[in-house]
Amino acid sequence: MPCKILEKERLIPGQTSKLVIDAPHIAKKAQPGNFVILRVCEKGERIPLTIADADPERGTITIVYLVMGKSTALLETLDAGDSILDLCGPLGKPTHIEKAGTVICVGGGTGIAAMHHIAKGHHKAGNHVVAVIGARSKDLLLFYDELSSFCPEVLVSTDDGSFGHKGLVTDLLRQRLETDKTVSEVVAVGPVPMMAAVAKTTEPFGVKTTVSLNSIMVDGIGMCGACRVSVGGETRFACVDGPEFDGHKVDFNELRQRLAAFKPQEKASYDHHCKCTCAGEK
Ligand SMILES: Cc1cc2nc3c(=O)[nH]c(=O)nc-3n(C[C@H](O)[C@H](O)[C@H](O)COP(=O)(O)OP(=O)(O)OC[C@H]3O[C@@H](n4cnc5c(N)ncnc54)[C@H](O)[C@@H]3O)c2cc1C
Ligand code: FES
Repeated sequence: MPCKILEKERLIPGQTSKLVIDAPHIAKKAQPGNFVILRVCEKGERIPLTIADADPERGTITIVYLVMGKSTALLETLDAGDSILDLCGPLGKPTHIEKAGTVICVGGGTGIAAMHHIAKGHHKAGNHVVAVIGARSKDLLLFYDELSSFCPEVLVSTDDGSFGHKGLVTDLLRQRLETDKTVSEVVAVGPVPMMAAVAKTTEPFGVKTTVSLNSIMVDGIGMCGACRVSVGGETRFACVDGPEFDGHKVDFNELRQRLAAFKPQEKASYDHHCKCTCAGEK
């Protein structure tokens, strides 16, 4: 069913945008951790994007995406008032949230937006949420104000030191775990190397660690097998068994290899798209 884009904000021009979409059927069921699969046009591929926020009263969901290749570049051509051809969701298992005390939510890059919905859920459950967010520089940092509006603590790291701690989110995480023994869970959403590093950092402290896996997905309903990941030596389907898993059990090397499996095809598809759009086609 086509869904209208009500608002578009270019968070990092040409790289990352936020869309607020009219999707009452999804908004009323969406929970933290859920994602949607969308198609921009008739011949377009199906791409998964996390629900970064949902407003059941207004009937809207928010998505935030990084322009990576052909499909996200096509999505970036749409503006407020345009429609997304079809939007399927909410998909995936929602985040397991219970009253647990202090929860550290770690986000990197576009993953900060996805982590925001999970952090909000933990806050609503009465947990003390510490947000730890990182980007290459201050200009690329997303959702700082949104997280600050409900998280009692927002710790920031930037690679170049332009804001907050100069270094990585894992430096801040390690410092916190060394001094705070009340942390009951760490949740990480972001690039695969960041999630792997978070899991490695928390392991010696024995703190439960949940990661949200962005494996390649096609149908999103457990039929095609494209999203398979190895967790604790078992094959799991990220779309129906996840996307969240125990970070200490995920085979991150295999995930990295599977994500890179179609690089030449993705590049060819993007180059073709660029030529077509430059020549006036879509
Ligand atoms: C559950 C889940 C939630 C996600 N949430 C977000 C989000 O909130 N914001 C965001 O920017 N990105 C998110 N992603 C990643 C997003 O789906 C990919 O960036 C997008 O599909 C890239 O498509 P493309 O055609 O623009 O790029 P391509 O050039 O086709 O691919 C670029 C890279 O994106 C990944 N990718 C490609 N196709 C898929 C696919 N069908 N499924 C998953 N990954 C793919 C691969 O790593 C690939 O190397 C999520 C992925 C998953 C699985
Ligand atoms: S995307 Fe097809 S089984 Fe998960």
